[in-house]
Amino acid sequence: RAAGAKPQLRVLLAGPRGFCAGVDRAIRVVEEALRQYGAPVYVRHEIVHNRTVVEALEAQGAIFVEELDEVPPDGHVVFSAHGVPKSVPAEAERRNLLYLDATCPLVSKVHREAERHYAGGGPDTRHILMIGHAGHPEVIGTMGQLPPGAVTLVQDAEEARSVAPADPMHLAFITQTTLSVDDTAEIVDILRTRFPHIEGPKREDICYATTNRQEAVKAIAPGCDLVIVIGSPNSSNSQRLREVAERSGAPRALLVPKLADLDWSALEGVRTLGITAGASAPEALVQEMVTALAGTYALEIEERTVRKEDVIFKLPAPLG
Ligand code: F3S
Repeated sequence: RAAGAKPQLRVLLAGPRGFCAGVDRAIRVVEEALRQYGAPVYVRHEIVHNRTVVEALEAQGAIFVEELDEVPPDGHVVFSAHGVPKSVPAEAERRNLLYLDATCPLVSKVHREAERHYAGGGPDTRHILMIGHAGHPEVIGTMGQLPPGAVTLVQDAEEARSVAPADPMHLAFITQTTLSVDDTAEIVDILRTRFPHIEGPKREDICYATTNRQEAVKAIAPGCDLVIVIGSPNSSNSQRLREVAERSGAPRALLVPKLADLDWSALEGVRTLGITAGASAPEALVQEMVTALAGTYALEIEERTVRKEDVIFKLPAPLG
């Protein structure tokens, strides 16, 4: 190339990527609460797993806490998109806190499924196997819809092979919404083979946004030398996108929270770069990355959209 000319870089942008309807709604809940009630508004746990989002809301007057005892007596508090155990709203009521629930409606749907299987703990109760990752707030929230012991966590295929429920005739499964579609299909197969009477969703409870983002990254990965997933390390769906990219043919995939965290040496020798973003990562972070790349490379950008999304969730009643 001529001296001074920028090296070429082809960029494949996966679509859909970035914000899902549940994240969009959760952020609007906090912004609307700030507008209607004034600052500060307390938020229990990161509203969505993204530092950039959290910092932007902090700048508007949101205060993030881990537990309700950090909220003063007359405070307004928002519960995060991941959902909360039943004990949390109960505690908020006991303390007369004004709370708003930003739990994604697709997570609430799984909560209701769990309650239906439990059937009040009466004669029709089914023991529930929850496919998900230990310690994730969504799992804590969903398991916390029912009394201790009603739900057993199954984290992987190995645990699906070894789990030993007391009554296989009264058994059900539910799943976290942000899992790997392929891994979950394998786990569900194992459970259905071992326990033919198990009840559950047709496939799993993985949400449309997780499914579509994984499908979109699969469509670009085989043609890429590197895939960058913009997302936070504590974001389950972002971590899964990184794994799916590597398993679908990208030699390497990196989780990068934002431009400032990019290790530019990772781009050496890369001719085609794939970019996607987790469901909690703002599109502005993607654009910031592309703009910075354009400063160094002559970019050829191609957007590959596998599916259009038009899901929008209403705000909870007190704000609507
Ligand atoms: Fe809801 Fe799925 Fe987003 S469960 S918060 S729509 S990743």
